[in-house]
Amino acid sequence: MLRARITGTGSALPDKILTNADLERMVETNDEWITSRTGIRQRRIAVEGEYTSTFAVAAAQRALEMSGANVDEIDLIILGTVTPDFPFPSTACIIQHEIGAHNAAVFDLSAACSGFVYGLSIADRFISSGKAKKALVIGAEVLSRIVDWSDRNTCILFGDGAGAAVVEAYEGDGGILSTHIFSNGSFWETLYLPGCGSRNPASQQHTIDERLFFLKMEGNDVFKHAVRAMEEAASAALTANGISPDNISLFIPHQANRRIIDATSKRLGLGEDKVFVNLHNYGNTSAASIPIALDEANRSGRMKAGDIILLTAFGGGFTYGSALMRW
Ligand code: COA
Repeated sequence: MLRARITGTGSALPDKILTNADLERMVETNDEWITSRTGIRQRRIAVEGEYTSTFAVAAAQRALEMSGANVDEIDLIILGTVTPDFPFPSTACIIQHEIGAHNAAVFDLSAACSGFVYGLSIADRFISSGKAKKALVIGAEVLSRIVDWSDRNTCILFGDGAGAAVVEAYEGDGGILSTHIFSNGSFWETLYLPGCGSRNPASQQHTIDERLFFLKMEGNDVFKHAVRAMEEAASAALTANGISPDNISLFIPHQANRRIIDATSKRLGLGEDKVFVNLHNYGNTSAASIPIALDEANRSGRMKAGDIILLTAFGGGFTYGSALMRW
């Protein structure tokens, strides 16, 4: 059977670290509040001259190196991001140019924090139908440029970085076993960036003075929906493959909030030892969070051949989804 499987992973993060103690000097907050409500201790922040493409290119090159794939063989690049270098052209075009993947069709995908799982789902469908052979799926963000650093409700949560995976065609019964993607647009205003699009084009009085170019979020609403949606997406994967939570070797959820991860894992009946968490180091890096975690789990030996790996995402839109793989 023709399937898609991940043959290489890579990630890249800014060097600059912003700790909770640093945030205490910027807004009315404290380390105890941030740690107990979110689990986040520090995040990486891009400096001047670093963009979403900077980290995406580095992550893609590391994934290519691990996979051993020749860049000329890449025929598809999908970048999940809400912080592209520019509204257009796609940042995927910039990545294509920088890594020299001249034979690829490329595009950006807007599914907020679910961007990587959405991208993996599309790559899986292209590859398992024989329409592509080797894809790069990337999640990359520089959220620090759309975060309001005077809003303590949101600025403590987010960070910058990128993760990537090379996804290849192969004949066998492992690799990506299923992907499920979902959306619920009724909640689009719960987590969004009002400015800079066609509704609120740039203007001093409107977008700038009213701070519309910063992301807005109803934290409590997002929290409740995130737990339910990630459980639904994970259950869809288990049901489609006729397996129980006991069969899962490693669960890699979107890294938004430790309490969201714990509540979702508990509902799914997954013990802490099966759940990968790195958000204490990076905060919520949106579309980059799952591929960064996947790369760390891969490089640290947490995933062995034959392991069943479950990815589950949730993000603005709302969008959510899951991917189940035999490693
Ligand atoms: N430091 C100190 N106090 C803060 C604070 C901060 N950084 N941010 C908010 N507070 C205060 C609030 O003002 C509120 O004070 P009040 O009771 O005097 O009004 C109090 O803490 C409780 O706020 P609340 O919003 O109820 O906290 P919470 O337990 O819901 O946690 C979030 C807030 C944002 C951490 C939580 O809702 C969350 O993580 N939501 C999901 C966000 C997310 O993951 N988004 C991305 C999804 S992909």
